[in-house]
Amino acid sequence: MSNQTTASHQLRPSLTGENGGGVIILGIESSCDDTSAAVIRDGVLLSNVTASQAVHEAYGGVVPELASRAHQQNIVPVVDQALKRAGVTKEELSAIAFTRGPGLMGSLLVGVSFAKGLAASLGIPMIDVNHLQGHVLAHFIKESADDSSAPPFPFLCLLVSGGNSQIVLVKAYNDMQIIGQTIDDAAGEAIDKCSKVMGLGYPGGPVIDRLARQGNPDAYHFSKPAIPGYDYSFSGLKTSFLYNLRDWLKDDPDFIEHHKEDLAASLEKTIVDILMNKLRRAAKDLKIKHVAVAGGVSANTGLREAFKDHARRYGWTIYIPKFSYTTDNAAMIAITGAFKYADKDFCPMEAPAYSRVAL
Ligand code: KG4
Repeated sequence: MSNQTTASHQLRPSLTGENGGGVIILGIESSCDDTSAAVIRDGVLLSNVTASQAVHEAYGGVVPELASRAHQQNIVPVVDQALKRAGVTKEELSAIAFTRGPGLMGSLLVGVSFAKGLAASLGIPMIDVNHLQGHVLAHFIKESADDSSAPPFPFLCLLVSGGNSQIVLVKAYNDMQIIGQTIDDAAGEAIDKCSKVMGLGYPGGPVIDRLARQGNPDAYHFSKPAIPGYDYSFSGLKTSFLYNLRDWLKDDPDFIEHHKEDLAASLEKTIVDILMNKLRRAAKDLKIKHVAVAGGVSANTGLREAFKDHARRYGWTIYIPKFSYTTDNAAMIAITGAFKYADKDFCPMEAPAYSRVAL
């Protein structure tokens, strides 16, 4: 993915290979704190196994050194399970797709090194995958051969995770343009930080989501950014949340306990409003009615409801991923690998991991 539009081969190549089938791709994802492996045959998902790392909960965020150690412990059993569940042996693999970046370097290195070792021992090609491109292409994961729920090109994708908040114009599987992005914090990062301030633990997204269902979204108002174009900003909201909370706690030391549902609902509403306002403007300006959402924050109930509401009000056709494909997973890496395999877009053995996007 880049800020520039690049020439594309085909919008969506055939994934069954030249000789009528049998293309089997192993995908490996290890960019942050989930070790995941998935197997795809001819574009259809056979298995997707993820080991999450609970070790970070005690620290209120991902500890990079602990994440890479846990990946080292998890990678062999996770890949083994993915192959077993798929009913595939490693000798049957056509290629190995792996997340090359962006992400935590120590985490990435585990997956990248494992992919290199396995590909070299089997004598098969390696396919490097941009993690963000993988999130967008999660919409092309098929659980059966007759699954036709993928969006047509071009479509817009709101990519919202702990590290990113972007509006992506997707013209082809390999032709994506970031038309708006956060200039500071990501949406998930803002949710996680506000949750931490409330003493609700890490990651904050799922607990804020659960509490918000029981609260009043109009109980409190937090500042919204005035940023030009399609870009986002969430650091002002985070500060506004913190300062308001500090004042309320002066009057009532148990304010959070008494009002956590309303606080969560109001925070969620503010973030969803900020995200949807820019996305709506982009869809209108570009005259695009096919709109998708991807990334960890796309699991959020309020955001999903806002998408359904926009579909009703503005005639959008919306694409919301299954929960298992919202947070980091290898199925999205494997499907991206399958597209690249069809284009023979392989990477050399010496390809390094990259912590930031440099495409
Ligand atoms: O995509 P992801 O798994 O990891 C990366 O950042 O790449 O996204 C994780 C983010 C975290 O900030 C987490 O709090 C948020 O997704 N998240 C949610 C929900 N589930 C996860 N945010 C809001 N509501 C949720 N239900």
